[in-house]
This record gives sequence, C-alpha cells and structure tokens, in this order.
Amino acid sequence: MAGNRSAEALKKRITEKSAQVGVVGLGYVGLPLVVEYAKAGYTVTGIDVQEAKVAEVNAGRSYVGDVPAELLAELVAAGRIRATTEFSEIAKLDSVNICVPTPLRKTKDPDMSFVSDACHAIREHLHPGLLVILESTTYPGTTEEFVLPLLAESGLTVGEDFFLCFSPERVDPGNPRFQTKNIPKVVGGTTPVCTEIGALFYQQALETVVPVSSTQVAEMVKLLENTFRMINIGLVNEMALMCGRIGVNVWEVIDAAATKPFGFMPFYPGPGLGGHCIPIDPFYLSWKTRQAGIEARFIDLAGYINGQMPMFVVEKVQNALNDHAKAVKGSHIHILGMAYKRDIDDVRESPAVDIAHLLLRLGARITYSDPHVPTVRLNGEEHESADQDEMTRTADCVVILTDHSGVDYAAVLESAKLVVDTRNALKGFNSEKIVRL
Ligand SMILES: NC(=O)c1ccc[n+]([C@@H]2O[C@H](COP(=O)([O-])OP(=O)(O)OC[C@H]3O[C@@H](n4cnc5c(N)ncnc54)[C@H](O)[C@@H]3O)[C@@H](O)[C@H]2O)c1
Repeated sequence: MAGNRSAEALKKRITEKSAQVGVVGLGYVGLPLVVEYAKAGYTVTGIDVQEAKVAEVNAGRSYVGDVPAELLAELVAAGRIRATTEFSEIAKLDSVNICVPTPLRKTKDPDMSFVSDACHAIREHLHPGLLVILESTTYPGTTEEFVLPLLAESGLTVGEDFFLCFSPERVDPGNPRFQTKNIPKVVGGTTPVCTEIGALFYQQALETVVPVSSTQVAEMVKLLENTFRMINIGLVNEMALMCGRIGVNVWEVIDAAATKPFGFMPFYPGPGLGGHCIPIDPFYLSWKTRQAGIEARFIDLAGYINGQMPMFVVEKVQNALNDHAKAVKGSHIHILGMAYKRDIDDVRESPAVDIAHLLLRLGARITYSDPHVPTVRLNGEEHESADQDEMTRTADCVVILTDHSGVDYAAVLESAKLVVDTRNALKGFNSEKIVRL
C-alpha cells in the first residue's frame, strides 16, 4: 500500500507540474532536456560535476548549440532552471534523469565509471517517491544488473518506493528538424508501474512517447539504431573504396540509387566516424554479446572499414600531391572542418583529428579552419582556427573533412590549388583541382 501511495503521489505531482525535475549531466543531451522541462512549466535542477558548466547555466549562457542562449537566459531568470554541483539537492527532487558520458576504454570495453559515480551519488539521497531514469547509451542489462542493485542498497524497493526506467536519448546535435521535443521517446521500466510513471513523465514535455516492456528492450533499441547506422556507413565506405579503385563516382551512384522509392535508404561515405555515439555504442553491444558467446561480426567488420577511412583519406592526399609533383612531407595542408559532422562544434572522436595527426606524422605542415571550432589540441598542442580565405589560397592542398553549411565552397574551389573533398561538398562542381572520395 505504501508503494501505491508513493506512485499515486508522484503521478499527481507530475501531472500537476509541481514535480521537481532533476537532470544529472549537463552536456549535449542533458542541457536540452533541462530546457524542455522548464519550457513545459516545471522547475528543473541540473546537476553536473563541472563547476564551469554549472556557472554557465546559472549565468544563462548556453554552451550547447541546440540550446538558444536567449531561451536559457529567460528560463534561468524566471527561476525555472538552476544548476548545482551538489547531489544533496536530489533529496528535494521527484525525478532524476541521468545523462552522463558512456565512453569506451582503450580496450573497447565499456567505461561505466561516470554512470557508476552518478548512481552512487543518487543512492546517497534516494528517497521514497523518486523516479530515476537512465538516458546514457549503454549495454543491454545495465539498468537491471548495474543500476538497480546499486540503488537497492538504500533499502528502498523498486516499483514501490522508488521507480526506475531506461530511456535512450536519440538527440541528433545540429539537426534543425528533429530535437529533444519531437524525437519520439522510448521508455521501459523495471516494473509495469515504473514504465507507467516514466511514460507519464515524458508525456508532459515531449510530443511522442513509446513505452516498451522492459529496460532491456529500451536499451537494445538505441543499440539497434546506432548499429544500423554504423554498419550502413561501413557499407558505403567500402563502396567508396571499391568505386575509387575502379574509377566510379560513388556519390553519383548513391544519389541515383536513392531515387528508388522503396527498399533503399541512402547513407554517405566520409573520412571516418566521429562523435560520442556511432563509433562507440555498437561496441557496448558486442562487449555484452561476447559474454553470451556471440561474436558481433557485422559490427567488427564495419568498425574495421570505418577505422581505415582516415588512412584512406591520407593516401588520397598523398596521391593528389604526387600528381602535382609534391610530397606530403613539407607541404602545407589546410584542413577545412574539424568537427565530426556538419554545423556542430563537437570534436569528440572526430576523424579530422586523426587525419591531422597522420599528416603531421608524415611531415606535413597543417593548418585548419572551422567556423564552429575555434581551437583544437593536436599532438598535445593547442591550434587555433586560421583564416579560411588566406589558408585555402596559400595551402598546397585543401582537405574538406566537414561540410559545414556556412562555408562558401565555390570560393574555396576558386582560390585553392588542389582540393580533396571527402564530403561531396563540391557536388555539382567540375574541376581538375577536385579529388573526390
Ligand atoms: N551527444 C550525442 O549526440 C548523444 C546522442 C544520443 C545519446 N547520447 C548519449 O548520452 C550520454 C551523454 O552524452 P553527451 O553527449 O551529453 O555527453 P557530454 O559529455 O556532452 O555531457 C555529459 C555531462 O555529464 C557530466 N558528468 C560526468 N560525470 C558526472 C557525474 N558523475 N555526475 C554529474 N555529471 C557528470 C559531464 O561533466 C558533462 O557535462 C552518453 O551516454 C551518450 O552516448 C549522446
């Protein structure tokens, strides 16, 4: 009966919008979620271990591209959002969404240290009536096998005293069409009551909620989506390698194939995978299934092909320079775009960083420009984004590694001596100066 009372009281607070919402981890995923709940009329507390981020949020300054600065400032000024480094605040909250990083260790095993730290901190302040939702991408079984036993050490019972769900975050940074609010939200709970409360919680702020039968299903949904993407990118990257060898324009092939109205979905090749999701998440799945005696062969193969792309791009640059009677060693190579994808500022796992390192190792002189990335660390040294016009004019070779939409590619082609285009940014242009992937 106590359980029913906790559940009913929480449901009432959620629907009346008097629930105090909490988000742990104020990054690319957490900050947009904070804003969405504040916009929906809740008071939201963001918790992060980085004092600098907490200070930025409290000052109403956005450091996430998808969160407009004016909106954040308005919601902070209205008292709807505040941030803190104090986990003791959880004692006053009705819900906590965990949005902390889940990277890989060097051995490609999951690094659960951030989730573990967050859950230990939450356990200290777990109280009856609290809804805990893990949003970080992780291996199937994490919520039941890892998070639940930790929280249960508090002596409280899941589904009665507190409620536990997994809901994968599917945000696509830099996508103007689909953002936190209108990306359907899958949620699975540890018990049916947990699922019911988790779904009710998301229904208040997001457009579409998709309840599933368990936390494992919800965890697996995210891994299927990202593995699907990673493998298809691996396939088109292999197509690019094959087309390159036999002299066919892979981009034209994909565009023509995409005219088929059924049974085909276009994916595009590129200089390699980047970001905190596609290069990482499938390995969470293969790590888990290996323990069950199943090797994830598609994932390993796609991982291998995608991992070869930076070297393939370097070979393209080498060959292109050779054709102009130049060697990589001593040449000035200008990298256009350092972020891992278009119109964002994120350089995590960016192939541009790998390519820059490979070219530096071969003795090239590297400069870069990226309207979204003012500085980047290469070989332990800080490099600043250089003047794009001047560098494209003076470099021996320009390599387009990110196709940001604000760049004038016609002007780049006009002034450059040689362009290696790994993103088809020069689609529609014909010039002997262009070397395509
Ligand atoms: N970035 C994306 O496009 C994306 C998309 C979908 C899912 N995800 C997943 O969402 C999760 C978060 O990713 P992100 O890109 O927002 O990461 P991020 O690095 O941008 O943000 C994570 C935040 O968590 C904070 N943090 C770390 N440990 C903490 C702790 N113990 N307590 C409180 N805060 C802590 C960090 O300081 C950081 O501000 C990951 O699991 C990722 O795989 C990311």
